[in-house]
Amino acid sequence: MRILFINGPNLNLLGEREPSIYGQKTLDQINDRIRDLAREKGAEIVFFQSNHEGELVERIQKAKGQFDALVINPAAYTHTSVAIRDALLAAGVPAIEVHLSNPARREEFRHRSLISDVVAGTISGFGEASYYLALQAAVESFGKKEREVGKEGQ
Ligand code: DQA
Repeated sequence: MRILFINGPNLNLLGEREPSIYGQKTLDQINDRIRDLAREKGAEIVFFQSNHEGELVERIQKAKGQFDALVINPAAYTHTSVAIRDALLAAGVPAIEVHLSNPARREEFRHRSLISDVVAGTISGFGEASYYLALQAAVESFGKKEREVGKEGQ
């Protein structure tokens, strides 16, 4: 199966950005681990990070028909972007929302997510492990078809 991991603004600064909240690992280090875990599960991963809302929208649009699942941390756009919400609806690819921190435990303005009700589920508050859990959820929930097809072919 193919999974697209999308990261929004400021997540390119992981490791140096507020490490007490977001951890010490860089995005590259987290992505390396995701790639290793995915290999064990037979999943192919594509990574995309942008600080620009329009680029995120375009990447989501292009995912239509290309991926079995999408894992997205829209970062600050979680709380503001109708455009990212609409792109997820338009693409129609099953999506999982991910956050390193638990926004519900933080400032009031982070409590509202504009995408939570258009994704399959949300994983937040586990630091980098949120991504690894999301990978597992994507494989378990949306990778079934391929495994069943594989079985038929044996
Ligand atoms: C975040 C939480 C957001 O509120 C924040 O703007 C981020 C990161 C997280 O992963 O915890 O940039 O999405």
